[in-house]
Amino acid sequence: MGPNRTGSESHAEFRAANPACIGSPAPDPSSAEAAGGPSAPRPDLFDKCRGFTRAKEAQAAGLYPYFIPISGSEGTEVRIEGERKIMLGSNNYLGLTHDPRVLDAAEGAARTYGSGCTGSRFLNGTLDLHEKLERELAEYVGKEAALVFSTGFQTNLGIIATLAGRDDAVILDKLDHACIIDGAILSQANVYRFNHNDVAHLENVMQRVERELPRAGKLVVVDGIFSMEGDIADLPRIIPVVRKYGARILVDEAHSVGVMGPGGSGVHEHFGLSDDCDLLMGTFSKSFASIGGFAASTENTIHYLKHHARSLIFSASMPPYAVATVREALRIARAEPERRDRLWANQRRLKDGLEALGFNLGTTTTPVVPVIVGETQKTFVFWKTLFEMGVFTNPVIPPAVPEHTSRIRTSLMATHTGELIDEALEIFQRAGKKVGLI
Ligand SMILES: Cc1ncc(COP(=O)(O)O)c(C=O)c1O
Repeated sequence: MGPNRTGSESHAEFRAANPACIGSPAPDPSSAEAAGGPSAPRPDLFDKCRGFTRAKEAQAAGLYPYFIPISGSEGTEVRIEGERKIMLGSNNYLGLTHDPRVLDAAEGAARTYGSGCTGSRFLNGTLDLHEKLERELAEYVGKEAALVFSTGFQTNLGIIATLAGRDDAVILDKLDHACIIDGAILSQANVYRFNHNDVAHLENVMQRVERELPRAGKLVVVDGIFSMEGDIADLPRIIPVVRKYGARILVDEAHSVGVMGPGGSGVHEHFGLSDDCDLLMGTFSKSFASIGGFAASTENTIHYLKHHARSLIFSASMPPYAVATVREALRIARAEPERRDRLWANQRRLKDGLEALGFNLGTTTTPVVPVIVGETQKTFVFWKTLFEMGVFTNPVIPPAVPEHTSRIRTSLMATHTGELIDEALEIFQRAGKKVGLI
């Protein structure tokens, strides 16, 4: 913990918190090669590639769970190598990726505007569609203005690295998403972290920032729903601390937009704290069935981001079909709140079912439902057993989650039927028994 340029928590440690799939061990710093004596070979950047064997070992053992090609999808069910799998590993919370209205909107926009924007928002890549979407999003989340980026990842990079600089402090929850961490690193600000959702610890950290950097501007960043835990940021207790120390807060609503709150616009709305959240961001790669992201805040802040965020200015804009998809998905999300009701009914069915079977689900209260296994090897074996029995899930291992908490991450859609969830539960029961988890 501490300022990242001088304190004990280095950039390398921050990078270690990124969810790499199967990382390579760091070179032994005491080795001759690392020491670089006269006879040491010249370092070659590609050495690490030749030395990276863990993924190949997992492939050879038949336990490699990544980059699995899906050859057909109906949303809740997919086909992989000719076999049907129940999809419990997608962030398609509202189940809109295959909605005919969404597909028609995508097709119509492609025909009117072409297949891509071939340039940055800043220059030739702004369509009237982008601006309409920005107005709709701002209204949806209750902010003065919004700005659309090409991915959620770029949105966080853009917001954090543009607003915070070398003299500032960025204060992160330890379980914040990788792109928040990368945004903080890119900003070159002093990075501090507090224990997950631990408001007393946040207060300690803020005191420390005041002591160490009395002139720093401060930005606290939290996930709304934490993507690997499925729990919710404790905004009612976090925000008073943010205010007490004159900081600003950014809430990442990637997993909560479309899902939380009476109108579905996120955790800020769920707690009735929209006005207290200085900045909101969300992605379109989950409930909104597409790709892209947005920032929302005051008119001034968005105007500033629009003219300074490098991940916006120096990258091509969201393609027309994607913007049209999001506009239609947003319209449906607002017009059909019963979708959210179905999502939450499905969440209860899966969560209650898994708990009744004896699985450990950690602290989840949302449609992200992790099954905590513990050790990584056992997690891969459990994942593979589920996969072979017909359920697609995502294994998550350190450093994406804390040591000894490797897990199977599942997530629900509004369009899962009760029968599908029951079928998945029956498979979890058989697989859990087979690997000795329950
Ligand atoms: C909390 C959170 N923020 C941001 C992102 C990045 O969004 P995208 O995948 O749309 O780039 C993700 C993606 O998984 C996420 O979970």
